[in-house]
Amino acid sequence: MEGLYIHKAKKDTMATSLNVEDDIDESLSLLAKHQNIEIMTQTILKGAVVWLSPGTREDSFEFFFVHEGELEIVDDSMTTVIGPGDSFFANNIKQNIKLHCLKNAVMLYMSNCIAYDDVYYWEQNLQDLINRINEKDHYTKGHSHRVLGYAIKIRERLESVCKWMSYDDFVVACLFHDVGKCNVPSEILLKPSRLTNDEYNVIKKHPLDSYRILEPVFGEAISTLTRMHHERLDGRGYPYGLKADDIPMEARILMVADAFDAMTSKRPYNVARTYQSAAEELAGMTAQYDVQVTRVLLDLVTSGAIILDEDNIGRKIAEGRM
Ligand SMILES: [Fe+2]
Ligand SMILES: [Fe+2]
Repeated sequence: MEGLYIHKAKKDTMATSLNVEDDIDESLSLLAKHQNIEIMTQTILKGAVVWLSPGTREDSFEFFFVHEGELEIVDDSMTTVIGPGDSFFANNIKQNIKLHCLKNAVMLYMSNCIAYDDVYYWEQNLQDLINRINEKDHYTKGHSHRVLGYAIKIRERLESVCKWMSYDDFVVACLFHDVGKCNVPSEILLKPSRLTNDEYNVIKKHPLDSYRILEPVFGEAISTLTRMHHERLDGRGYPYGLKADDIPMEARILMVADAFDAMTSKRPYNVARTYQSAAEELAGMTAQYDVQVTRVLLDLVTSGAIILDEDNIGRKIAEGRM
């Protein structure tokens, strides 16, 4: 009948949608679209965190109905657990709302914000980059995820002074800060012994290469943050030897999270330090690292908010180079 559109689910759609690649924690399928209204299903894997961000329009409206699974909605004042049959909507929200998935979830998602095309485009680009990293160096993948985890925890305590970049952009930059290592020859990247000066100079190109790879995909801010992750406040970092005034808080956080993971990961040429001793040493390196950031890290470690993950992939895969 004219005007009637039927969407038949592919066999086992729900099951396969929960078997998405390990690296993508969420997946969106478009069921119907009319003008600027989109109706989608969204799957989110257990453990993943998804953020609802303020829309670009004042009348932005996003509705979610939980078909299966369990999620926790966290905002400033409360935490609410929702499950099958529950629903919620966001209408012109002013700040990010965190959704933490407790059990693999499938939700019906309706939006008037043209979410699908944006997310689909991002997922494609993210997946391409993840594949490039994995092909080159398994360590970098594990390292990137751990650095992101530390950086998020630190940023949550310093949100009021993170003015440069949105939370979402910060996440992408942390995850892909080392993507420029794709251009480092494997014999250098995976060399198990000390590098020569020339080899080290090749490694030192990777922040600039991260910038060049990411800029066309994600724009100036995200790529610039990745370019800064080996700078140091005293100007002794690379590639540009920037000094404190030129290094925003978001980059200071990424620098510390990155160094912390390098110090606490077991590598062929490096014994893994304990979290406590690494955080204490970083807190003492006041010339290189932001004191506010290293104090937060030390507090997170001391209070048990960052716990040693014995299963973390970086400890098992002893290859690659920071
Ligand atoms: Fe790096
Ligand atoms: Fe790194």
